[in-house]
Amino acid sequence: MKVLLTGGAGFIGRNLVEAYLNRGDEVVVVDIKAAHTEFEWLSDCIVYGVDIRDVAFIEIVKKEKPDLINHHAAQIDVQSAIKDPIKDASINILGTINVLEACRAVPGCRLIYPSSAAIYGTPEYLGVDELHPIRPLSMYGISKYNPEEYIRTYANLYGIRYTIFRYANVYGQYQDPKGEGGVICVLMNSALKKDSFTIFGDGEQTRDFVHVADITAANLLASDESFNDVFNISTGKATSLLETIQLMEEVAGFELEKQIKDERKGDIKHSYLTNHKALAQMGLDTTNRY
Ligand SMILES: NC(=O)c1ccc[n+]([C@@H]2O[C@H](COP(=O)([O-])OP(=O)(O)OC[C@H]3O[C@@H](n4cnc5c(N)ncnc54)[C@H](O)[C@@H]3O)[C@@H](O)[C@H]2O)c1
Repeated sequence: MKVLLTGGAGFIGRNLVEAYLNRGDEVVVVDIKAAHTEFEWLSDCIVYGVDIRDVAFIEIVKKEKPDLINHHAAQIDVQSAIKDPIKDASINILGTINVLEACRAVPGCRLIYPSSAAIYGTPEYLGVDELHPIRPLSMYGISKYNPEEYIRTYANLYGIRYTIFRYANVYGQYQDPKGEGGVICVLMNSALKKDSFTIFGDGEQTRDFVHVADITAANLLASDESFNDVFNISTGKATSLLETIQLMEEVAGFELEKQIKDERKGDIKHSYLTNHKALAQMGLDTTNRY
């Protein structure tokens, strides 16, 4: 299979590159970060350092004729989205429309799109399922949700087959300490460097921390078969920041120095997502992990 992966130089993208190459797929990566930097893990891929919003992107897709576009390129920072909503919307919404235009230019080309738990806003109930109301608290939540509607509309109009995921907070190998779900990575960095760790708010906030191996497994399932549906990819469990810190301190063998700052705007207090639909309908198996 030929997969065109946007955002292949990023955290989840790098994990996906590895997984696709391991099973013998042909991988084409489009990532703006590759415009001026060579990444050794992309050496077995065809790489384009191009912006997904460029017309050049559509030409690349027409030339490469992938079976699947796995669209992981995005502006992922909640605080940056609040500071510069136009840039956020431009990359996440207009960028995805360009990806859809490219997808429909190649007959039979399918799509995977990763949305986010951020679209649900403050949960009206826990665990949040796929039918929960969409009430984002930040521009990022809006710009991740809006493309879902474009995808459904393109599917209705042009028959594009797709799978949409809504990831909880992803952690694991190759993660950058910045970013949406980076708290575990930031904690590990603080422990390794013996730096102080900043807690925003009282530390009682809970998150659903899902390992990137489960994200990869879900993506591989949806690469072979498009489900034309939306699935939470999560653990179905809530873990508080204080619990996470305590675990990290147990592993590190010392107490971390902590700084307490005000709660950040746009941050959700409690959240965990049910994963029943992905387990039942996609056959996703997370039993070895949780
Ligand atoms: N990490 C999480 O916890 C999480 C949770 C929910 C959803 N997601 C979604 O998963 C996807 C990947 O997230 P990640 O954590 O790997 O992010 P990341 O920032 O590590 O990777 C994103 C990649 O996209 C590239 N990119 C950004 N703008 C681009 C543009 N205009 N043109 C081309 N490339 C561009 C970046 O260079 C980067 O390599 C995103 O769509 C994100 O919204 C992530």
